[in-house]
Amino acid sequence: MKIISSIHELRDQLRGQNRTAFVPTMGNLHEGHLSLMRLARQHGDPVVASIFVNRLQFGPNEDFDKYPRTFEEDVEKLQKENVYVLFAPTERDLYPEPQQYRVHPPQDLGDILEGEFRPGFFQGVCTVVMKLMSCVQPRVAVFGKKDYQQLMIVRQMCHQFALPTDIIAAETVRDADGLALSSRNRYLQPTERAEAPQLAIALNGVRTAVLAGDRDFAKIEQQAMATLAARGWQPDYIAVRKRVNLQAPAAHETDAPLVVLAAAKLGATRLIDNLEI
Ligand code: PAF
Repeated sequence: MKIISSIHELRDQLRGQNRTAFVPTMGNLHEGHLSLMRLARQHGDPVVASIFVNRLQFGPNEDFDKYPRTFEEDVEKLQKENVYVLFAPTERDLYPEPQQYRVHPPQDLGDILEGEFRPGFFQGVCTVVMKLMSCVQPRVAVFGKKDYQQLMIVRQMCHQFALPTDIIAAETVRDADGLALSSRNRYLQPTERAEAPQLAIALNGVRTAVLAGDRDFAKIEQQAMATLAARGWQPDYIAVRKRVNLQAPAAHETDAPLVVLAAAKLGATRLIDNLEI
């Protein structure tokens, strides 16, 4: 595996490749990320991964400084997955001057759910993904359903800018007790780790109620949030939305495919998860 930090070197290395499959990450790789690499391999060749902790997508009071950075271990894992190139730019490589041109996702998708609680987050994500794609020029790129809203926004961005990159969605990988894998799980104290699967349990409860025919989404969401709050969580949202655009379903939209999305803080750690219904 070649480890490349400069954009020019990356372009030289990938010249002539037209089936590149790309997996952008912020490192601290776990089995969820590795499943993205394996899915990428099924859709293209060579597989290119990136590791870049993107300052633009962190709010001023978020965890940019303490975000786990485990480069050596990550390299070993990617080597075992036969990744061809790891693009690991420094901030100076990717943002040699202040990044003044930015990609703003539309408000109806970018300012709801995660965007409401993390203002500017999707602008930061879209800007870096656009820039990484301009460097890698992939035929496909793989994003996890764990970050469901991010996946939708990136897919729409590629569509609206007519980028020649298809976005492939990868299923969420979970621990045996149901907790969705996330780099931020490592912030959890042991008692919090034991409690953490309750988020997936809450989502499953919402899913079961909806599948049983209950259409009072506001009530179901409130009950799920109250249950978590009673266990010591601070829920930001639990929301049943249409998969197609993440808007709330109207009462008559009984056939619309749905997804339930959640974000909640457990101690100092904010977890997100979702479940297609
Ligand atoms: O999902 C992530 O790890 C990040 O948001 C991404 C897509 C690598 C952009 O920094």
